[in-house]
Amino acid sequence: MKVFLIAGARPNFMKIAPIARAFDKQNQINYKIIHTGQHYDQNMSDVFFEELGIQQPDYHLGAGGGTHAQQTAKIMTGFEEICEKDRPDLVIVVGDVNSTLACSIVAKKMHIKVAHVEAGLRSFDLSMPEEINRMVTDSISDLFFVTEEQGMTNLLKEGKSRDQLHFVGHVMIDNLFYQLDKLKKMDTTTFPTTQFKQTHPEYGVVTLHRPSNVDTKESLVSIFETLAIISETLPLIFPIHPRTRKNMEAFNIEPGPNIKLTEPLSYMAFLNLWKDAKLALTDSGGLQEETTALGIPCLTIRDNTERPITVTQGTNELVGTSKKKILESFKKIMNNDWKTGQCPKFWDGNAAERIVKVIEN
Ligand code: UD1
Repeated sequence: MKVFLIAGARPNFMKIAPIARAFDKQNQINYKIIHTGQHYDQNMSDVFFEELGIQQPDYHLGAGGGTHAQQTAKIMTGFEEICEKDRPDLVIVVGDVNSTLACSIVAKKMHIKVAHVEAGLRSFDLSMPEEINRMVTDSISDLFFVTEEQGMTNLLKEGKSRDQLHFVGHVMIDNLFYQLDKLKKMDTTTFPTTQFKQTHPEYGVVTLHRPSNVDTKESLVSIFETLAIISETLPLIFPIHPRTRKNMEAFNIEPGPNIKLTEPLSYMAFLNLWKDAKLALTDSGGLQEETTALGIPCLTIRDNTERPITVTQGTNELVGTSKKKILESFKKIMNNDWKTGQCPKFWDGNAAERIVKVIEN
């Protein structure tokens, strides 16, 4: 059996790594890695392959940026050519990025089976490109690997049959535990953030890149004003995504003096930072889940989340972009008056093994 494992953008790399490791432990299934090239900067892509120990991609589509249609189209035509000359039996897509959508459509139209890892998540907010990607991918997938119970409920409501659904837990959390173990044995003094960590016994970590937060001046200015107030009490460090950096420059936004901006960080350097943070302020889907897994307080600068278990069981709260709500939550965290949370079911480091078992059967 031949499987294609698709990765394109930064959050995909940590999700395919544990699946590749689990495939490496068996010999019934051959797999190839396809990098769509959706993310292309060294620090948005290559560094993850190196650190996460993923083999070099068997195919690189070099799609690059562009509008959604341009990027999706480039990935689709590149991926179709590969499937024509080296047809797989199954295509595994992960997450909700444009590469996930593009490759699942191509495979399905070529009558190749599609498995979606992280299926069933719904924000019910169609202004998010990721929600459209999730819905379309799930509407045509054959096998669904689900990270939390709400994902099962959503897919059943959408008419999927129970035997297609597999509640396996979360491959990204597999990767988190695996890398955390590796981090304990690593020399972290060469990380670019070591000096910041040494000089700031308490700090918060910020990540922001959602178009709804960073693409309009009004929204980005208001978020930075709130961050500046927080940083008077708690210094902040902000590894900044290229989308956000471009918009900050376009809108002439200067961060406050207690907000340290850095280039996007490698997985290990970032993990070493947030695992010891007092809190995370973010609009990332992945960080909401990872902070829940390690019990770090997380304030999500969004009005909704497709990952509700991080709120109902974890350490995450949705604070929107309201200054008042963000600052109230911030005060609670600083007063050590925050929920401790618990690690959700099956977020135990074995999700990828479960996925490979299902595929083997
Ligand atoms: C994409 C995903 C989003 C994911 C995010 C993680 C979609 C619809 N969105 O959004 O779900 O959370 O990745 O980062 O798939 N850029 C660079 N270098 C790079 C990559 C991007 O400079 O290596 C620039 C692009 O030119 C563009 C901007 O960053 O101007 C945004 O990149 P893009 O891939 O369009 O979307 P993301 O915002 O990264």
